[in-house]
Amino acid sequence: MQSIKEKIKKEPLPKHVAIIMDGNGRWAKSRGKERTYGHKCAIQAVRNAVDACNEMQIPYLTLYTFSSENWNRPDEEINTLMSLISETLLLEAEEIFSKGLRMHIIGDIEKLPQLVQQQLNQLVDITKDNDKGNLILALSYGSQREILSAVKKIGAKIKSGELKEEEITEEVFENHLYTKDFPPVDLMIRTSGEVRISNFLLWQIAYAELQFLDILWPDFGQEDFYKCIYDYQNKERRFGKTSEQLDENI
Ligand code: IPE
Ligand code: IPE
Ligand code: MG
Repeated sequence: MQSIKEKIKKEPLPKHVAIIMDGNGRWAKSRGKERTYGHKCAIQAVRNAVDACNEMQIPYLTLYTFSSENWNRPDEEINTLMSLISETLLLEAEEIFSKGLRMHIIGDIEKLPQLVQQQLNQLVDITKDNDKGNLILALSYGSQREILSAVKKIGAKIKSGELKEEEITEEVFENHLYTKDFPPVDLMIRTSGEVRISNFLLWQIAYAELQFLDILWPDFGQEDFYKCIYDYQNKERRFGKTSEQLDENI
C-alpha cells in the first residue's frame, strides 16, 4: 500500500505553512501530569513539523509559539515556557543551522526575557545567509497588534509627507506588517480540535486553506504533516473564480 507521503504530488505545494501548535496542556492533563510537561513533550512535535517541511522543500514555516494573550497565563507557566524556549534554542541552534534554515521572529520580542531575546537575535543573525527554508517563530505575537502597528507606521508616513493616502494599496500595507518578507499563508493548520484563529496572522490567511486537526500538539508527527499536504493538494483553490475558469486556465 502507498504511504501518504508517496501519494503527495510534486505540485501544488504550499509555499507558506503556518501552524497553531495547540493542546499541550490537555495532552499532559490526560496523562495526569502538569501542563508544563505537555510543553516539554511538544518540542519533538516541533522537530517533526520542521523536518517534514524541510524534506518537502516548503520554503516558509511559521510556528505560533507564544501569543500576546499567553502573557495572561500564570507566571509559573510563562516562566517554564520561556526557559524551555531558551533551552530549545540552545540545543537546536546547530541543527537549524546545518539544515540550512534561516530563522525569523515575528512579534513583540522586547517583551521576552533578555536572554531569550539575545539568543533569538543571535540565531537570526547566524542563519541570515541560509537559503534552504525559512523558519519563522511567532513569539509574543498578536495579529491585531501587528495590524495596528502597520496602521500607525503608515499614519506617521502620511503625516510626514513620505506617503500619500491614495498610494496605500494592499501591497503597501503588507510592507508594513512583520511578515513583509514572506508570502501569504497557503495552509494553516491548528491542532487540538479548537476551531479558531486566536489572533494569528489575520491578514496573511485571507486565502489560506484551513485545517483543524483533532490531535493534540505533542502527538503531531511527520505523517500528520504529510496528510495535511495531501489534503491541501486535493482542494481547489479558486480565489474567487469558478471551477470552469480554472479548468480553462483563464
Ligand atoms: C499550546 O498548548 C501552547 C501554548 C499556547 C504556549 P496549550 O498550552 O494552549 O494547551 P491547551 O490548549 O491548554 O491544551
Ligand atoms: C494559541 O493557543 C496560541 C499558541 C498556540 C501559541 P491558545 O491555547 O493560547 O489559544 P486559545 O486561548 O485557546 O484561543
Ligand atoms: Mg491552548
